[in-house]
Amino acid sequence: AHLPLVAPSVLSSDFSRLGEEIKAIDAAGADWIHLDIMDGHFVPNITFGPEIVKAVRHVTTKIFDVHLMIAPADPYLEAFAEAGADVMTVHAEAGPHLHRSLQHIKKLGKKAGVAINPATPESAIEYVLDLVDLVLVMTVNPGFGGQSFIPASVEKVERVRKMIGMRPIRIEVDGGVSAETAPALVRAGAEVLVAGSAVFKGDPAGYAANIAAVRGVR
Ligand code: DX5
Ligand code: ZN
Repeated sequence: AHLPLVAPSVLSSDFSRLGEEIKAIDAAGADWIHLDIMDGHFVPNITFGPEIVKAVRHVTTKIFDVHLMIAPADPYLEAFAEAGADVMTVHAEAGPHLHRSLQHIKKLGKKAGVAINPATPESAIEYVLDLVDLVLVMTVNPGFGGQSFIPASVEKVERVRKMIGMRPIRIEVDGGVSAETAPALVRAGAEVLVAGSAVFKGDPAGYAANIAAVRGVR
């Protein structure tokens, strides 16, 4: 099997030095940069919007993986596309017209992702699979970094893997992903590992080792 991609979530970084933190994880071997957008409505926390994404776009050439925890998402898709998002992921729970949101992302020329919360069955995304490049299986309830991994997520990843079949769709996992929890997720079919607190711990000199540990390289 191939090594998974690691997408550090800057939610756990030092926001006063966001640009430098992104440069540091880029140099430390991050594959994608995971940007958590929270609106205080869909999730009980607020982070940042497209202006901040745009402000840090020039510090790296790596993929900007934008996780939209906002409802509604549609009015903001164009702004995040223009800000430099490469992958844009919307939640299945964020509105009644998921299919339309995904079509909108494709029309903007971006990779489209769909996320499902821990309580959402994988059947919720069955009819949009032909529109997506990525399925994000949340392994905690979204809103905060540093929460504990929900073990039932491993079985969910397996089910999503089966449902995807031969389609060229990657499975991403997000929440409580660490060197301890990652291996079972990778065996179940996860190919992109989002990790916040497991990467941004200690000083930047340790980020490369933190990323390698999450990836399963020692
Ligand atoms: C959670 C966010 C995650 C978060 C993960 O709502 O979507 O991306 O930063 O943080 P850790 O890896 O610390 O659980
Ligand atoms: Zn996230």
